Amino acid sequence: MLVHEGHANARRFFTQANAGSYDSIVRFTTFGRDFAWKQEILRATGRRNSVLELACGTGILSSMLVQAGKSVTGLDLTLEYLAAAKRRVQLPLAQGTAEVLPYRNESFDAVVSSYLAKYVDMQRVADECWRVLRPGGIVVFHDFTYPTDGAMRGLWNAYFYILRVAGRLVTSWKAVFEQLDNVVRESDWVRQAESALSSRGFQNVSCRYHTAGTAAIVSAEKP
Ligand SMILES: C[S@@+](CC[C@H](N)C(=O)[O-])C[C@H]1O[C@@H](n2cnc3c(N)ncnc32)[C@H](O)[C@@H]1O
Repeated sequence: MLVHEGHANARRFFTQANAGSYDSIVRFTTFGRDFAWKQEILRATGRRNSVLELACGTGILSSMLVQAGKSVTGLDLTLEYLAAAKRRVQLPLAQGTAEVLPYRNESFDAVVSSYLAKYVDMQRVADECWRVLRPGGIVVFHDFTYPTDGAMRGLWNAYFYILRVAGRLVTSWKAVFEQLDNVVRESDWVRQAESALSSRGFQNVSCRYHTAGTAAIVSAEKP
């Protein structure tokens, strides 16, 4: 069984204890930006109908895609998060890792993900996206990034200091609040995604930074 080092972080961060509060926490801790970032992902899929969401979590983005009239399939590593997605929206769900997809070749028009990229082997994910996408399909990865601007870095570090303190009270999120900043700071996911997608043959590989460089969306098309 293939295990990337990011899996240990994902298994420590996303648990039965915090699946029920995830939706509120992500909205609150991103000051509502999560919704705006997910709208960007939705927009990037354009008119493509059949969408696979990797790391669908509790189904926030999946339900936005369904509401937009798309046919959605979800996959996630964490059973408790999938159970929450199942309660939220009706769609085919599977448990597993984004690096080994249980779908046939050329099954989807788009593959999207939000907050997955820093936990996975991007080359394996890019290869699997290529395999399951039809020609003309698009892949869209969104995740946090460590800002490059000095002042923004100061704010970012201060914010995580506050979260660290909050983690003493909200114990189900303690591991995330204490360690997410390091995981994001050490992740090179944007460069890895761009390189993995280009080397696999994807075209129009592009990256857009959002919210003062604290998040990015990388997309690419299968010719
Ligand atoms: C921060 S949550 C994001 C959930 C959802 N994408 C959203 O934006 O609300 C991260 C999710 O990534 C999932 N995950 C982490 N590593 C994964 C992997 N290798 N394969 C599939 N899902 C993974 C976790 O189980 C968790 O549900």
